[in-house]
Amino acid sequence: MTTPLIECRHLDKWYSGVHALKDVSLTIRPGEVVGLVGDNGAGKSTLIKILSGVHEPDKGQILMGGAPVRLRNPKDAMRAGIETIYQYNSMVPTMSIARNLFIGREPLKASVFGFGLLDQERMRQESVQAIADVDLHLRSPDALVGELSGGQRQGVAIARAMHFKSKLLILDEPTNHLSVKETDKVIGFVKGLKDQGLTGIFISHNMQHVFQSCDRVVAMARGEIVFDHPVTETTLEDVHEHL
Ligand SMILES: Nc1ncnc2c1ncn2[C@@H]1O[C@H](COP(=O)(O)OP(=O)(O)O)[C@@H](O)[C@H]1O
Ligand SMILES: [Mg+2]
Repeated sequence: MTTPLIECRHLDKWYSGVHALKDVSLTIRPGEVVGLVGDNGAGKSTLIKILSGVHEPDKGQILMGGAPVRLRNPKDAMRAGIETIYQYNSMVPTMSIARNLFIGREPLKASVFGFGLLDQERMRQESVQAIADVDLHLRSPDALVGELSGGQRQGVAIARAMHFKSKLLILDEPTNHLSVKETDKVIGFVKGLKDQGLTGIFISHNMQHVFQSCDRVVAMARGEIVFDHPVTETTLEDVHEHL
């Protein structure tokens, strides 16, 4: 058995009076793409926020590669190799695709004054490659992210995660408010994760999308995990019965 990439052990989370996570344990192995489903309020985003360092659990433990980790803030999570893409992701519309790809990780080059300067050319070249790697066809790395469609923006965010070799890529409802065509494109990116050897958690309320693009379906209801099976060993109806 390979060591799990990430393990959640007995996580509990309260928001004042709301018990949002109840003794949640989840193990994900390297290379697995897990579809996380469940009705509104089931606790999916709370679990993801704990894994991305937005919230800390009130109880329980997270292990990565078999060792306990503490994810106190989003920077900790990013350093641990966890990248999260939300429905409205963290890109800056008024900056270029190249700049957005490198947000928080800008390469510097030395200047005659001894200060680091942004290595613009390197960012342009690497971003062209990163975008081509996810099979996204964009005119120029200098185009502003604000000029891209919703699906293209998700593509750039996914390209960023792949380029920086994130260990775990989390997508929380990335297709909300996208057209059918754009949604298909994003589903294509999720399917591509496996080929790139990435591990992912894909949250969607569309069970068909999960069955098309994931290895495993995990369902949550009322703060608990109520279902966890490989997609090849279950059906849509089966999952629905457990919600
Ligand atoms: N910041 C918050 N403050 C108070 N309650 C919250 C907060 N975030 C989520 N909740 C509550 O926690 C529960 C789980 O929510 P959430 O994790 O967002 O579920 P999901 O993503 O599955 O829709 C819900 O009852 C929700 O109302
Ligand atoms: Mg949610």
